[in-house]
Amino acid sequence: MTRGKRTYLLAFMASLAVFGAVVAWRILVLPAPLAFAGGHEVALSEFAGRIPTGVPKELDGASQLAKGKYLTEAADCMACHTAKGGQPFAGGRPFKLPFGTLFTPNITPDRETGIGEWTDAEFLRAVHKGISRDGTRLYPAFPYASYSLMPDEDVLAIRRYLATVPAVKMANQPNTFSFPYNQRWLMSFWGAFFNPGKPFQPIAERSAEWNRGAYLVEGPTHCGECHTPRNLAQAMDTRRKFAGGVAEGWNAYNITSDPSSGIGRWKPEEVIAYLKTGHAPGRGVASGPMAEAVELSLSKLTRSDIAAIAEYLRTVPGRTTATTPKVAAAAPSRPTAGAGYKSNGARIFADACSGCHTWSGRGAMVGEAQLTGNRAVNDATAANVALMMLNGAGKPGNPRRFMPAFRHSYTDQEIAEVANYVTARFGSKPSKITAEEVGHLRQE
Ligand code: HEC
Ligand code: HEC
Ligand code: HEC
Repeated sequence: MTRGKRTYLLAFMASLAVFGAVVAWRILVLPAPLAFAGGHEVALSEFAGRIPTGVPKELDGASQLAKGKYLTEAADCMACHTAKGGQPFAGGRPFKLPFGTLFTPNITPDRETGIGEWTDAEFLRAVHKGISRDGTRLYPAFPYASYSLMPDEDVLAIRRYLATVPAVKMANQPNTFSFPYNQRWLMSFWGAFFNPGKPFQPIAERSAEWNRGAYLVEGPTHCGECHTPRNLAQAMDTRRKFAGGVAEGWNAYNITSDPSSGIGRWKPEEVIAYLKTGHAPGRGVASGPMAEAVELSLSKLTRSDIAAIAEYLRTVPGRTTATTPKVAAAAPSRPTAGAGYKSNGARIFADACSGCHTWSGRGAMVGEAQLTGNRAVNDATAANVALMMLNGAGKPGNPRRFMPAFRHSYTDQEIAEVANYVTARFGSKPSKITAEEVGHLRQE
């Protein structure tokens, strides 16, 4: 090799190494949850306003148990630790991941199959660090990277409450992960890089309300676990904080302050109504995992806590997301006025959807059925529209919130055609979802 060639090769390899280091650094070193806010983090005891952790002021006089219940609901432990139709907190809910299925464990006080025998220290270590009683590393599908922001006192209040729920004897189910994903010890590296591992510290320059919202959002209510995109290492990519993630096949939309892709145009009352009731008139309804978060957790929070969450969200820097562009205005009310009226999707929409949703999208009778202004129909992947058709919403008997499931009425191809018609008619960017993609969503 000539000298020139060798220098060239060395320079090439050096630049490759630098590139690799930059990529690794981008993946491994992520901004802290509150880094965007600037200001100074101070210890809880040094904060000038009301301490942002614990329960809201409405519960100051409540019993220890009532406080523990409130925090357990805020952290939504029940949603994941209860199987469909199963006993509360007894575990067994499956989480389908690309490399296998993970089942939640039993966290009832049963001494054999639950956590009845665990000490407080063991419980704290699990919730803060993702380490089980026997030292086994837990997967971050258990959102301990968020829960690590909760001070010991709050986690132990949850522990006290969990000790009072009915004990259920039900053995934990092993996961079906294949090699190398079944190597739990690898999670210790994950934790070292991606678990902040220190309790919440308020920002001195911000109001007590903002800090309360920051605590709830980043800690117990773990919004980012669904709403923040994940990087290659499956860590929340806080550089694109709240720019939209995926939860069990559903798109958990951009909730940054961006006016087009995010919720920057929503009024605070609209955010509050959406979180508290699952519906903000003119903005849409919460479906899928968000409907569950509202039902089991957010609807149980006090108004002051929901208002604090809205106040904090307002300040999260805007980020755009290609699949969620600006929201479209109402469609024409004449069926034939829109594009694709002769398509198969339009024919099915006429039969199965237009009665409740109308051709303009403004909805017939109930505000919940309005599609105009709704993010799902303005989502260029159409995933949530397809999931909505597959699964429906609510229960018969609640006319405001009920939509039947069409899983057995239509093929994957038909559902894809309707979803593409719906986004083209009611949204600003038509989708191109395929029958194959609908097939995957059907399995979720
Ligand atoms: C988003 C879903 C989710 C939520 C919310 C959740 N967990 Fe879990 N949790 C899991 C999963 C999944 C595992 C098992 C992880 C594994 O096997 O690696 C787990 C494991 C645990 C364990 C370890 C049990 C054992 O036997 O090793 C404890 C304790 C626990 N969770 C308590 C809680 C508490 C308390 C809350 C609420 C503060 C909570 N979890 C909320 C998903 C969740
Ligand atoms: C378990 C996952 C999950 C968690 C936790 C979660 N969300 Fe969501 N969220 C979703 C999904 C999925 C959607 C889309 C629902 C739909 O299409 O109807 C959504 C929708 C939303 C929307 C509506 C966005 C729009 O443009 O229509 C807002 C606002 C929102 N979430 C805020 C929050 C906040 C604030 C938190 C924490 C307090 C939170 N979410 C926690 C999954 C989640
Ligand atoms: C019986 C009346 C009814 C029929 C028929 C119906 N829907 Fe709905 N739909 C509703 C109601 C009510 C809601 C609001 C549900 C809620 O509050 O959670 C809704 C919500 C939706 C949403 C919003 C989901 C979100 O995440 O924001 C979409 C999209 C949707 N429907 C599409 C369709 C399509 C496509 C069809 C035809 C295949 C259809 N609907 C048929 C009543 C209906």
